[in-house]
Amino acid sequence: MSIWEQFSLEGKVAVVTGGTGVLGGAMARGLAAAGARVAILGRRAAKAQEVADDINAAGGAAMPLPADVLDEAGLRKARQTLLQTWGRVDVLINAAGGNRPDATVFGDLTFFDVSRAALEGVVGLNFTGTVLPIQAFGELMAEQGAGSIINISSMAAQKVLTRVIGYAAAKAAVDNLTRWLAVDLAQKHGPGLRVNAIAPGFFIGEQNRALLIKEDAEDPSQPAATDGRGNAGAGARTSFRSLTARGRQIIDHTPMGRFGEPDELVGVAVWLASDASRFVTGIVVPVDGGFSAASGI
Ligand SMILES: NC(=O)c1ccc[n+]([C@@H]2O[C@H](COP(=O)([O-])OP(=O)(O)OC[C@H]3O[C@@H](n4cnc5c(N)ncnc54)[C@H](O)[C@@H]3O)[C@@H](O)[C@H]2O)c1
Repeated sequence: MSIWEQFSLEGKVAVVTGGTGVLGGAMARGLAAAGARVAILGRRAAKAQEVADDINAAGGAAMPLPADVLDEAGLRKARQTLLQTWGRVDVLINAAGGNRPDATVFGDLTFFDVSRAALEGVVGLNFTGTVLPIQAFGELMAEQGAGSIINISSMAAQKVLTRVIGYAAAKAAVDNLTRWLAVDLAQKHGPGLRVNAIAPGFFIGEQNRALLIKEDAEDPSQPAATDGRGNAGAGARTSFRSLTARGRQIIDHTPMGRFGEPDELVGVAVWLASDASRFVTGIVVPVDGGFSAASGI
C-alpha cells in the first residue's frame, strides 16, 4: 500500500458527533475530502443538514444524522438509519461537547458555590456524551473487528486552566476513557479497534468567542496584518489589540502566538481515522501551537 493509500479514507463510513459545530464541522469536511462518507450527528437538525449539503456540494458524500448524544433511544435510531443507508461504520469522532457558564468559577461564583446540577451537566455532556455514542456505534465496530474512535479532549485535561472546573474534570475523564477503552477493545476485539483522542489548544468556537476576543474586533483567527509584538507582515500571529485579557494570556502562553484554525485539526483526524495510524491506540494528540509544551518562562 502506498503512503497515500494508507491515509485515504475511501470506502470508509464516519460519524462525527457535534459535526454541526465549528471544530466537528471542519473535521467532517476533512474526512469527506479524504474519501469517507460522513454522517453529521448533532442536536440541531437544520445545521446537520446544512453541513451535509455543503459537503455534498463540494463533491463529497454526507448525510445529516440528527440526534442528542445524551439520548440513548435517539442514538439507537441514528445507528439504525446509518446501517440502512451505508451499512457500516469505520470512524467515530466525538466532537459534541463544551463548557457551561454555571460550572465556571468566575466573578462572584466561587468553587464552593458551583452547583451539583452544573457539574453533572458539564460532565454529562462531555463524558457521558462521549461514552453513549461509543456504545451505539463502537458496538458495530466490535462486530466488524475494525474501527477508529477519536475523542475530542482539551488542554484543560492536561494543564490547570483557571475557572473551568467542571469542563476540566470532564475532559480529564475523556482522556482516561480513551486509554482505558483502547486497552479493553484491543484485548477483547482485536488490533483493528482503536481509540485515540485529539486535544485541541485554543480555537475560536461559538462558545468561547466572547471569552477570547472583544466584541467589536475582527476575527483574530484570521491572519493579522501585524502581530501582537508589532511585527508588520508576520501574518499568522494574532493581533493583541482584539483580545480580552484571557485571550491575551492564552496567546502569551502559545509559542506560535495565535489561535488555531479549525481545519488545522484535519491532518491529525485523518491520520487517526486512517490505516496510516493502524499501530496507534490510546494516545491523546495535542494540536495546540506548542501550548502544552511551554512552561510560560
Ligand atoms: N473551540 C476550542 O477552542 C476547543 C478547544 C478544546 C476542545 N474543544 C472541544 O471541541 C469540541 C467541539 O467544540 P467547538 O468549539 O467546535 O464547539 P461548538 O459549540 O461549535 O460545537 C459543538 C457542537 O455540538 C453540538 N452539541 C452540543 N450538545 C449536544 C448534544 N447533547 N447532542 C448532540 N450535539 C450536541 C452543538 O449543537 C454544536 O453544534 C467540544 O468537545 C469542545 O469541548 C474546543
